[in-house]
Amino acid sequence: MFSKEDIEQIKIMAESLEIKLIAETYNVPQDVIKDVLRGDITAENNTTKTSTDFETKIKVVEKARFVRNKTVMAISPGGGMGKTTVLTSLAMASAIHIPNGRPIGIVDLAEYPKVITALGLETDDSIINTAGSILFGDGNGKDYTSSKIQHPALDNLHVIPGVITTDNHLEITSEKMADIIIQFQNQCEITFVDLPASLIKTGELLLHGDIILITLTPDYGSLVGFIQLLPTLKRLGLTNRSFIVLNRIGYPGLLEAKHFRKALTAKINDYYSVSDNSQFEFLGFLPETQDLLKQINGEKENIILSNSKSDFTGEVKYILSKLCPDWQIKTEENSSGIAGILGRLFKQG
Ligand SMILES: Nc1ncnc2c1ncn2[C@@H]1O[C@H](COP(=O)(O)OP(=O)(O)OP(=O)(O)O)[C@@H](O)[C@H]1O
Ligand SMILES: [Mg+2]
Repeated sequence: MFSKEDIEQIKIMAESLEIKLIAETYNVPQDVIKDVLRGDITAENNTTKTSTDFETKIKVVEKARFVRNKTVMAISPGGGMGKTTVLTSLAMASAIHIPNGRPIGIVDLAEYPKVITALGLETDDSIINTAGSILFGDGNGKDYTSSKIQHPALDNLHVIPGVITTDNHLEITSEKMADIIIQFQNQCEITFVDLPASLIKTGELLLHGDIILITLTPDYGSLVGFIQLLPTLKRLGLTNRSFIVLNRIGYPGLLEAKHFRKALTAKINDYYSVSDNSQFEFLGFLPETQDLLKQINGEKENIILSNSKSDFTGEVKYILSKLCPDWQIKTEENSSGIAGILGRLFKQG
């Protein structure tokens, strides 16, 4: 059941985390974790999970699906790198491409919530009331999923809007945030969670995620920040489920994607052994795009709806096809991650 790597990871996690949280992470009863820590459960086979390639990691993540639905979160070493953009785009693409129309959720727990804006919606009374009812409910046995709103153009996309002011945000406890996430996990095929930036609140919430998208922009700040993030990912046991999404490729003044990738590899090698380096895969490369939100008939529309043929939309679809291989999403021939996007950017000069 556990590889040698799992056993070591559980021991590291136990130094700073409660057994309950570790058990949730591995989707096993708490007693199993206790047995591991006592040494009663050891690795059956030391070579089962080396996580050296993407497919292996996706399979690790897939383990969670037997127990609950998939949860996707994003983190960045610094603000404004595109977490909200990536999550809202993926949520909309999921709502469109999920084969059986099952519900998709997006939960906005950020201090400065921008999911509603990024979806192309206006903050009207119904959204303010929904945000308020989530915030001021006592949280005891409350059904948060009944407070969601539906995206007007995608009726299987359920949204929990964020708070209205930062003071409101200070009132939400981590327990309440975890409760909201768990309820959505139970009801939605995929739940996208836009987390607070502060690791004080986010750290343990990340354990509810099956896939962590480390969203970076190709610049030196991201290179340094990524390295600063690594010990936290390791301590929380999230390395295996973390993938890099590089955003804003082609923005003037930023590094070229291939140079960024090379520099990142060199940085990681400086700090860690070469085998650790192989644990981070680039899942997608999103281009700098002018029309993420377009004014259509007096209303704003997100590019995923307004332009299904854009490079940006194609790359979002490509990432989704990697996250949900069983959906059999057809990606455009010329949109295949690095090759497609970089090839075309290169041509545009
Ligand atoms: N690929 C892109 N092309 C053009 N603009 C982008 C792209 N990605 C993000 N942006 C813009 O950059 C800004 C920051 O993006 P976003 O809000 O998604 O980042 P964030 O990481 O969620 O920020 P925060 O730390 O504030 O939560 C937004 O105005 C967004 O529209
Ligand atoms: Mg954000």
